[in-house]
Amino acid sequence: MSKNIVGKHAEYKKLESNILQISQEAKAQKKKYPDVIDATVGMLHHENMDVFKFQVVDEILKSLSDEETYNYAPVRGKKTFTEGVLNWVFDENAPMIKNDFKYSIIPTTGGSGAISNTFYNFNDFGQKILIPGYYWSPYKNFALEANVDLETYPMYDESNRFNIKGFKEKAFALAKEQGRLCTLLNDPSNNPTGLCMKKEDWKEVIKVLNEISDTGVPVILIHDIAYIDYQLKETKLSREIFSTYKDLNEDILTVVVFSGSKSFSMYGFRVGAQIGISKSQEVIDHFTRVGDYSVRGRFSSVSQPGMSLIDKIFNSEEYKNRFKEELVEANKLLEDRAKLFKEVAELQKLEILPYSGGFFISMKTDNKNIFEDLKKEHVFVIPMQGIIRVAISSLPLKDIPELVKILKKHV
Ligand SMILES: Cc1ncc(COP(=O)(O)O)c(C=O)c1O
Repeated sequence: MSKNIVGKHAEYKKLESNILQISQEAKAQKKKYPDVIDATVGMLHHENMDVFKFQVVDEILKSLSDEETYNYAPVRGKKTFTEGVLNWVFDENAPMIKNDFKYSIIPTTGGSGAISNTFYNFNDFGQKILIPGYYWSPYKNFALEANVDLETYPMYDESNRFNIKGFKEKAFALAKEQGRLCTLLNDPSNNPTGLCMKKEDWKEVIKVLNEISDTGVPVILIHDIAYIDYQLKETKLSREIFSTYKDLNEDILTVVVFSGSKSFSMYGFRVGAQIGISKSQEVIDHFTRVGDYSVRGRFSSVSQPGMSLIDKIFNSEEYKNRFKEELVEANKLLEDRAKLFKEVAELQKLEILPYSGGFFISMKTDNKNIFEDLKKEHVFVIPMQGIIRVAISSLPLKDIPELVKILKKHV
């Protein structure tokens, strides 16, 4: 009897090496042993290991009215919030998006809610979503939960650049096999590698998508921009890649995934959005129809205080400017850590994957037992697809030289 307590479709479910679980373990060990190095979780921390909270966020949070805090939020969010998301994400490219495309913005429970809804609604059960071979492991959970799976291609070419050839081959094969192509790219500041694709790479990706779309196959591009505000660049420059969208074919649906967790260090608030854009009104009508339904059917609506707060930043020049100033400080923390990590790694001859921005640096490993080996040395990092991921977002400068030495010993 108890054997069947779980539905057949859910029998496979068991979270393996879950990032948040490993992080809890690291925290518990750190309490016991102060020399523990915990580079597990993608939350930005100061050098003293306090979470990096934006002062302006904290101030607004404490000033929210009861209505802005306690009421249910509308399923679609307020227009000031959704338009604010669009303007924030696209910045100088926002007028082009508004002019050349139809769009619809659906608030979700973090970027995670946006990705899982998109996986669910824009594939047939049993189909595969195309992603690079190094990826944020929850994509697999979102996929299986949506009755679909992932298909990968090697992320880098021989020159350690984004592997456009590998992408193209798999994209054409999958489109032919399935009569659909749904592909996800996490760029810029990729998790787990720190890769930032060049504008030319994006042009090539869009060329491939257009060629496939020309054959009449539905094409869905999911662009996960969770770490766009941490590319160690000015806002204007980190958004340059969006100008390549201009060439997208009429019928392609692009879903840009916004994460309030990362952009505003509001990890626990669970605010994000799916930004659907297409040159076809019909495509956007479908996007809105199924998106609204899934929000209601899965999590009802999104955190009211979280959205009220972000809304205020988007719609006040003063708050926005203060936020941008603090963002420079946040990026400086990452920049200093990345610089030191690269320097020490070079000295120790520890090869890392090319890093250009974001919360993580990764390196390849053949050691199948790496997690346990490092744990014995009081080091916690996240093992992924043949690599280990170091969260420099939560790694103080003082720990870097020792960490690199230990990593070099075990990779
Ligand atoms: C690559 C990537 N995408 C999306 C997310 C979504 O985060 P959230 O659901 O907290 O917005 C994360 C969080 O770690 C991430 O690393």
